Amino acid sequence: MECCQCQGIEAKFDQAYVSEQLENYRNDGLKKTAIQLIDALQAEDIQGLSLLDIGGGVGGLQHALLNSGVRNAINVEAASAYLEACKVEAERQGHAAAIDHMQGNFVEIAEDVPAADIVTLDRVICCYHDMPNLVGLSAKKATRFYGVVYPRDIWFLKLIVQIYYNFRHWVNRNSMRVFIHPTEAVEALLRENGFSRHFHRNMGVWQVAVFKRK
Ligand SMILES: C[S@@+](CC[C@H](N)C(=O)[O-])C[C@H]1O[C@@H](n2cnc3c(N)ncnc32)[C@H](O)[C@@H]1O
Repeated sequence: MECCQCQGIEAKFDQAYVSEQLENYRNDGLKKTAIQLIDALQAEDIQGLSLLDIGGGVGGLQHALLNSGVRNAINVEAASAYLEACKVEAERQGHAAAIDHMQGNFVEIAEDVPAADIVTLDRVICCYHDMPNLVGLSAKKATRFYGVVYPRDIWFLKLIVQIYYNFRHWVNRNSMRVFIHPTEAVEALLRENGFSRHFHRNMGVWQVAVFKRK
């Protein structure tokens, strides 16, 4: 992966960080926002559909959706430690045969990534600088539903992100930056790609949304 942001992602989500995330997931389960996204998708008819989960982390969303009737999943993951953890967890949960893994920056490898009925990006948009390409290219892969969890576009959150995350990354010489992309710009891209919003909920600093292809 060539971009600076992806080199920063690889360094940030290292073995130690990912092991802790996997342990948290095994002990505490999914985050409330992921549960909300799953509930919103389950409200649609998702039986037998295929899933493309971009930046799947340890894969919690994939397992929950496979348990809800989704047929199979593709996990596209930029960080090698997350990809390995996702494979180990898929084996442990008996889903190894149902999940294909691709490592890389989705934006760089989009041409090789198959389309799916459902595309999800759970807390991924904020980890990538080029939102128009990440959202635009991933929306083109979604034939039915597009589900996202991403930060709310509010001024004090932008301030916290700059001071708490980006300053710390700069001090630690990590090139990864966290981004609060404008909600309207994300939604406009999805509208341009033929989606309309079917579900939306603010949950603390996060927003959860499901879009449906018209
Ligand atoms: C904050 S973590 C969230 C992981 C998981 N979705 C969750 O909610 O627990 C962000 C994830 O997005 C991945 N990511 C960010 N940008 C990406 C890109 N352009 N292509 C593929 N993965 C990406 C990171 O490697 C990481 O796994």
